[in-house]
Amino acid sequence: MYKMKLLLSLFCLFIIGLTKADEGMWFLMHIDRLNHRDMQKMGLQLTAEEIYSINNHSLKDAIVQFNGGCTAEIISKDGLVLTNHHCGYDAIAELSSAEKNHLKNGFWAPSKKDELKPKSLYVRFFVRMDDVTQRILSKVTPTMTESEREKAINQEIALIEKENNEGGKYTVSVRSFFQGNEFYFFVYQDYKDVRLVGTPPESVGKFGGDTDNWEWPRHTGDFSMFRIYSDANGNPADYSTNNVPLKAKKHLKVNIKGVKENDFAMILGYPGRTNRWMPSGGIEQNVKYAYPAWVEGSKTGMDVMKKYMVQSDALNLVYASKYAGVANYWKNRQGMIDALSKFQTAKTKALQEEKFNKWANKAENKDKYGQVMTNINTYYGMTNEKSKHDNYLIMLMRSSAFGSVSRGFGKQLIAYANAEPSKRVELKAGLMDLINEFYAEAYIPAEKEILIAQLKLYTEKAKPYALAPEILKIGNNFEQYVEAAFNLSIFTSKDKLISFLEVPSEGLVKNDPIYVLSDGILSHLNTKSDELKKAQDDYSTSFRLLVEGLRVSKLAPIQYPDANSTMRLTYGKVKALPLDKRNDAKINNYTTMEGLVKKYKAGDKEFDLPVKLLEMFKNKDFGRYADAKGYMPVNFLTDNDITGGNSGSPVLNGKGELIGLAFDGNIEAMAGDVIFDSNLQRTINVDIRYVLWLIENFSGAKHIVDEMDIIQ
Ligand code: ARG
Repeated sequence: MYKMKLLLSLFCLFIIGLTKADEGMWFLMHIDRLNHRDMQKMGLQLTAEEIYSINNHSLKDAIVQFNGGCTAEIISKDGLVLTNHHCGYDAIAELSSAEKNHLKNGFWAPSKKDELKPKSLYVRFFVRMDDVTQRILSKVTPTMTESEREKAINQEIALIEKENNEGGKYTVSVRSFFQGNEFYFFVYQDYKDVRLVGTPPESVGKFGGDTDNWEWPRHTGDFSMFRIYSDANGNPADYSTNNVPLKAKKHLKVNIKGVKENDFAMILGYPGRTNRWMPSGGIEQNVKYAYPAWVEGSKTGMDVMKKYMVQSDALNLVYASKYAGVANYWKNRQGMIDALSKFQTAKTKALQEEKFNKWANKAENKDKYGQVMTNINTYYGMTNEKSKHDNYLIMLMRSSAFGSVSRGFGKQLIAYANAEPSKRVELKAGLMDLINEFYAEAYIPAEKEILIAQLKLYTEKAKPYALAPEILKIGNNFEQYVEAAFNLSIFTSKDKLISFLEVPSEGLVKNDPIYVLSDGILSHLNTKSDELKKAQDDYSTSFRLLVEGLRVSKLAPIQYPDANSTMRLTYGKVKALPLDKRNDAKINNYTTMEGLVKKYKAGDKEFDLPVKLLEMFKNKDFGRYADAKGYMPVNFLTDNDITGGNSGSPVLNGKGELIGLAFDGNIEAMAGDVIFDSNLQRTINVDIRYVLWLIENFSGAKHIVDEMDIIQ
């Protein structure tokens, strides 16, 4: 019996070893040491040097961070860049009008001169990175206060940045890892002339809308395409008609042979944030206080936006991008609440903390670690209500165009008012742009309603935490207050703002009712009692010690640092989830156009499809892109470890060729940012064959596909 059990558990281990999803967002400079052998076993055919090299062109040179929040990859020698539709969404909406509605109808530039330049859009190349842990930690001592420590570290960071930016050519960023226990610097080069090359219609690029968002089985053509321009010498340059397509150091080849279960798959990109070391108290706080407020505040804003968006194409364009952004995390946070509760993640963490605490209170560790858990839990206990309160206010600011005017916008108007007349002339054009951009995304009747709804929600729900005095002052007739404030304010009228530029005065801004409200909200968010400041400092010290202690005691197995918008690699396989009745495919690791068309609902906001696409499906007009079995692939699953920010990342085969585009995660695994669950966590990707079919066959933009190196 025992033997049987042993055999059984060995067998299970073997199976788990084979099927486990692949946790880890690895640093490129550590691949050789930590991962390369494992990757080779799984099917990688590249050397570590071919992935990341500081001397030669390597894979990393084909991957860019896209406009600060997404990832993209270069797929032609002429700087063609592929990313998600939802990453290009804001630029596409900006370049659309009710008459030329590229968001709705799709767009492909017939030639390079027709490519469209959005106001601001940049891509960031990763030049190199290095470890500066020793150097930075040599400047701090255990007796320093948190602010002394921060000051010492920042001084050293400033030096490192200066030493590596080559006289301003590069942007250098020094970041902390493992909760301030390690430091690395990253050298980047930014290009800011980036133009829209093409996009599928929104019905394809955002197929399934918020209903399907974060869900599998999925059928979304989530891609859009841009091009990077440089000056004649290949250097970054402001937009100019003299700029030329960037001659990229490295571009990805595109492999259209298709994928199958257990094929090697790796993803390089810029995951935004994970919290895999988060203590149980933090998880509890999010599940019970912060996220429910986030969800409710988001929905309150979304409902008003939607009410206006359905009224016309023009109003839809005003709010489409903001709505998509708010809705995306509205659903994500609800998914996190559900998953973290269902899997009792806080309990799992609490058990680990118990073990840690035992270790921490051993005689030899007690001095250093004895207070760690107490300090951490004290801090969470003190901030639960605050986190709920703050999230209502943050969602007010995020959904209302006017909630945060005192920050950037107001400060710029004040600086303008106080500038010398000659300086004002210089600033004026920039401010005009700002005003126009602001009003491209704000419609006054909707804004009044959003603000009223958010103020009501806040005063009802954000208690027992002390409410912002500036809001309490209003009383409870929010309609009347908003009406009057909007009448008086200069921010709520484009004409008044333009007149302000003619006769500016600081007092006019500082006494403006909307400015005053916004400023009151911001300062209330930043107000902290001395007691709270002290608890927060103790928490920072203790969290750093917790992570350090978990690593030295080997109580936690995590070997890679949390995501923080620095480039990472995750590797794994094409991997099915258990069969799902909703999926039409034979193996639950891919979806097909069959399933797409089954979801189609004529005229629906989320599930409509272009008539032409339906016809091409009926005629099996799949060109060279159909699978060998005759179907048209749409999306597929891998077991890679990604998070928000990875959107648009390339999925690569063992040779480093492009097989897909990562665009989402599955809702069941929403606890993944805190704990990676290998049974659940999947990455949802667009199959590159669907992308190319949409460009070449559906949109007739063969000239774009002809720019690529296709492996078939
Ligand atoms: N969930 C995706 C991500 O965070 C974004 C998908 C956008 N689509 C949408 N229906 N809002 O990367």
